[in-house]
Amino acid sequence: MSTTIDLEALGDSAAIPDRIARFPFPFPRDTYRYSTNVEPAGSVVETPVGGWGTHPVDVDGRYREDLAERTRILAEDPTRFQALPHMEIAQWDAMLTLMRMLTDAHPETFSLDGDGAARRFTNRALGVEQSFVFGDPSTLPEPPLLFVGRHLQEDVVLLDQREGALWGDAGLVTFAADWSLRFDVGMSFLQIHGPVPRVHTEGVIPRAQQFLMGLQPGRQYRRTNWSLSVDRRLDQSTETYPVWGRDRRLLAEGPLEDVGRRLNLRVEVQHLVRLGVSGAIMFLIRTYLLPFEDIARVPEWAERLCRVLEELPEDMADYKGITRTREPGVRWLRTYGGVRS
Ligand code: HEM
Repeated sequence: MSTTIDLEALGDSAAIPDRIARFPFPFPRDTYRYSTNVEPAGSVVETPVGGWGTHPVDVDGRYREDLAERTRILAEDPTRFQALPHMEIAQWDAMLTLMRMLTDAHPETFSLDGDGAARRFTNRALGVEQSFVFGDPSTLPEPPLLFVGRHLQEDVVLLDQREGALWGDAGLVTFAADWSLRFDVGMSFLQIHGPVPRVHTEGVIPRAQQFLMGLQPGRQYRRTNWSLSVDRRLDQSTETYPVWGRDRRLLAEGPLEDVGRRLNLRVEVQHLVRLGVSGAIMFLIRTYLLPFEDIARVPEWAERLCRVLEELPEDMADYKGITRTREPGVRWLRTYGGVRS
């Protein structure tokens, strides 16, 4: 199904603002534990106020703002794009697949013309038109993954499959939640997940890798992950920790009234796609941030978030970097957010 979007109209105009109506609230129950939580992609997940999940690439009312932020980050730190030399064909494969996804989702905004190797991509929202020949780097102004990354709000990691394992060998990641692509590039799937507590003894990561290695071309799966962020800061990569790290302490020490406005539930919708030409796995990470005061407009969400935060074991809270912020978050939800039980 394709939806018609008007980029200017999206935002706060409706009774329930778009940012709430389309928010991917991630908790199906009152407790949260790690699991191999993957499901087929493409169907809409309904919520009490709307739904999400129609397309693997999601263009919303923050499109231009998010892409301007990506451009700023890349100008300051070009290492947010990484690609090992053997990932050249996977980059082209990913670029074409992402262009098709954008066109399928929003044909009025994006188009991809031509067939065979010679193509033309048009993005009417940004006023970009680019002709290129698939596989010929001289026809693009920059590497294919970097080029297409300037047209979508998702971060992208490409995984090579060899020697019975997956390897994170390329990526464009400007909105990481406390990790670093520059540090992780070239690592195996198991190594990348090394810092995560619990998942190793519980077999979550080896099971996920087995599942991904069996993924058939064209099949798309998705999962969610979550954390808390102070303010609407998409870039929380390890590289910029000095900029955002202290805000957690400052928020916890500041007035409780400010928490509803400043503390955000940070949700990643992640899509997993096997690319047809290169055989690489494409991992899309889309980050949504919603302040607690917006969460509180949906009573079911406020109750559930409060219970999840109260119950979350210490080691998981520690790893997620929310040991300082979850307590003020819970207090705000109970004091101002309508949570009584
Ligand atoms: C973190 C599971 C796919 C990269 C995590 C965490 C879990 C997890 C449970 C901890 C999250 C948190 O508490 O905030 C899974 C599962 C997957 C999957 C079940 C597939 C079914 C991937 C893929 C990549 C990836 C394909 C691409 C390279 C990462 C990274 C982190 C992470 C970079 C942060 C690690 C750090 O702290 O340095 N993953 N993941 N994941 N995952 Fe995955």
